[in-house]
Amino acid sequence: MKVRFSLNGEPCEAEAPPTRTLLDWLRETRGLTGTKEGCNEGDCGACTVMVTDESGARALNACILFLPQIEGAAIRTVEGLSGPDGQMHPVQREMITHHGSQCGFCTPGIAVSLAVAHLNGRRDHDAVLSGNLCRCTGYAPIVRAAEAAEE
Ligand code: FES
Ligand code: FES
Repeated sequence: MKVRFSLNGEPCEAEAPPTRTLLDWLRETRGLTGTKEGCNEGDCGACTVMVTDESGARALNACILFLPQIEGAAIRTVEGLSGPDGQMHPVQREMITHHGSQCGFCTPGIAVSLAVAHLNGRRDHDAVLSGNLCRCTGYAPIVRAAEAAEE
C-alpha cells in the first residue's frame, strides 16, 4: 500500500506492507539511522520522532508506529531538526554545551523529545523525558540543557 506524508519538510511516499514500522522504513529504506532501535516495543524512546498532524506536534515512538498510521502527517527525525542553513536546533546546541550525551545512543530520541517540548512551550522537563531512557547521564545535564534552550 502507498502512504503519503512529509519527511523532514519534503513530500514523501512510502510503498510498504501495512505492518512495516516507521522505524524500520526510516532506517532500512531511507538510511536515516539517527533514529535508533533500542527496545523495539515502545519503552525506551531511542526511536522518538516528531509527528505533526491536526492534533499538533507530538513525540512518538517510531518502533510502534505502522506506516498507515502516519498518512497525511509531517514527520521530523533528528536529521531534520537543524535549521535551513544547517544551524543546530537550540536543544541540540545546549545538549552539547551542558554535556547531555555520553554514549549517545539515547541522544537523538532525547533531542527530538526536547524539540517537541520546545515547540509546544512545555517546561515540565521531567515529564517530557519520562519516555526517554538514558543509562549514562543521570538526566541532570539533559534537564539543564532543556532549561537553557528555553532562554
Ligand atoms: Fe522504540 Fe525503544 S526502540 S521505544
Ligand atoms: Fe548513554 Fe543516554 S548517553 S544512554
